[in-house]
Amino acid sequence: MDKNQLIFEIERLKKERNAIILAHNYQIGDVQDIADVVGDSYALAKKAASTDSDVIVFCGVHFMAESAKILNPEKTVLLPVLDAGCPMADMVDKDGLRRLKEQHPDAKVVTYINSSAEVKAESDVICTSSNALKVISQLDAKKIIFAPDRNLGTYIARKLPEKEFILWDGFCLTHMRVKSEEVRKVRELYPEAKLLVHPECSPEVQDLADFLGSTSEIIDYAGKIPEKEIIVGTEEGVLHIMRAKYPEKKFYLLSPGLICPNMKKTRLEDVYEALLHNRNIIEVDQEIRMKSLKALEEMLRLG
Ligand code: 13P
Ligand code: SF4
Repeated sequence: MDKNQLIFEIERLKKERNAIILAHNYQIGDVQDIADVVGDSYALAKKAASTDSDVIVFCGVHFMAESAKILNPEKTVLLPVLDAGCPMADMVDKDGLRRLKEQHPDAKVVTYINSSAEVKAESDVICTSSNALKVISQLDAKKIIFAPDRNLGTYIARKLPEKEFILWDGFCLTHMRVKSEEVRKVRELYPEAKLLVHPECSPEVQDLADFLGSTSEIIDYAGKIPEKEIIVGTEEGVLHIMRAKYPEKKFYLLSPGLICPNMKKTRLEDVYEALLHNRNIIEVDQEIRMKSLKALEEMLRLG
């Protein structure tokens, strides 16, 4: 099938099955273009919680589809490419988190949405990069265990000096590729440009940024500022939306390493096949689902 036929068939199947397609901002342009909603982790989780479709096709990575299933047990959630995972989510496990909780019984556990259902089930509340500050600042505990992203954790810890943070030592392989030396060189190359960076980058890179935010916050901020040149310090998928939304502006990717191989696995063919054959259904164990749901609902309440 050529691209137009694929798009036609996906649209047809979507209607036939009463399905919604959610796509993360890092997906390839073709997949973003056929999605009903394109957004950051928080917007997609909220949409997954409120949709009345029977089927959710989640074009993203595993933890995102799993979160959609936790929030929507009665719906069919499909992940078009089953091995599209998030290496950072795999850096934290439930047993390790339990041990840390035992060492710090007075701490509240805040877990980044980039984590498995099992790890979420061990957590008091979930957060994303767009609501982490809002969520954590509302917690009454002074001590916070934050997992798994040490860079996002450091960013929040710096904003909330009144709290004590115990950070898990996880990180995003893609965002950690950016080195501060590289940032200085790109800034010299484009001295008029503003630098917008995701807090998954290292604290050294965060320090050199003009703005820090989630993928959607970066996209929105680029539209609000008067500058016509923007250096983008997050995965390259956001450029597709930014260039379409703001054709008068010029965007430069901060580093050629800013490509998440897992986010790039999903193609139109995979979306079509998943819908056609009801392939790659995401399931979550009931006990784990109930516990992780509590933590996700707490995020939706506070965020
Ligand atoms: P956002 O919530 O900012 O979209 O981030 C998700 C992610 O995986 C970033 O690498
Ligand atoms: Fe995970 Fe990083 Fe890819 Fe986001 S960009 S999905 S954190 S590996």
